[in-house]
Amino acid sequence: MPNRIGKVNRSRSQRLGDVDMAQPMTGASTANAQRRLCVDGEFAKAHQALDPTAIDHRLAGHPLLTLEAIADLADRLPRTSILCDTADQPLIVASGPARGSVAHPGDVIRHLDTRRSWLTLLNIEQQPPYRELMDACLDDVAAMVERRPGDMRRRAGFIFVSSPLSVTPAHFDLEHSLLLQISGQKQVTVGRFATQETRHGERERYWSGSLGRVKDLPIAIATHDLVPGRGVYLPPICPHWVHNGDEVSVSMTLTYFTRDSERELFVEAFNARLRQLHLHPRPPGSSQAVDGAKASAMRLWGMRHRLLRRQQPSSHG
Ligand SMILES: [Fe+2]
Repeated sequence: MPNRIGKVNRSRSQRLGDVDMAQPMTGASTANAQRRLCVDGEFAKAHQALDPTAIDHRLAGHPLLTLEAIADLADRLPRTSILCDTADQPLIVASGPARGSVAHPGDVIRHLDTRRSWLTLLNIEQQPPYRELMDACLDDVAAMVERRPGDMRRRAGFIFVSSPLSVTPAHFDLEHSLLLQISGQKQVTVGRFATQETRHGERERYWSGSLGRVKDLPIAIATHDLVPGRGVYLPPICPHWVHNGDEVSVSMTLTYFTRDSERELFVEAFNARLRQLHLHPRPPGSSQAVDGAKASAMRLWGMRHRLLRRQQPSSHG
């Protein structure tokens, strides 16, 4: 299958090598070298077009992201911030695991080579050192993608750890996601829905409880081979699924909404409530005026906090 994204990634790595080895360090190149995420104008273009694209990063080996540090973090987070499931999954699974089903997640993480599991640590920004790390990374991204100050919002971080040869079922997320491989290897396949109707239907199913797990496998369009130091940007509603390599895998996903995607979130939440009343609302994008009214209504009704609680990533694997 063609992998146009892989080509972009290689050229970026070569440019990074040029900066480090062949050119004197200017102020700009020093700043680039200090960035944790290697985002550039090419990334910004892909982000604006909502195209999945490869990125490089410098987080492999970070002391907060070792398996032991993550096991300790899992034990410090509230139990409801831990998702755990079996490693051996089909690509299509109706719904995700319940929160907080494991009493001692740190122990599972320390023995992932034998415990055949995958775990997601939700909202790692609850712990200040991880919040600082998340913000440092996303500040670099915000500098590249924000059209207006404050465009990036609702930042969140997730850590995903999994046994060798784990599978993450096909799903999509509502947020912009940066999936960053820290240790081990995995293949992330990015797909597209066969039709706009399918896409629309899956978005509605999200609010009915699927939380992004899709009914049918989307059409694969590219596969990213993630190794430590590599990652991929996934735009909202971009279906993807993951096959681990033969080692324990650690990855971190940083997510955010933009002003536009947050507005869609509010519109979809509003529409979901209308569907509960057996009404048939227009999907987002049909009318700017109607979307604006719906989004404003959600804000005025003070729904934001309830939305936040309901919003739960299906896996962020
Ligand atoms: Fe995901």
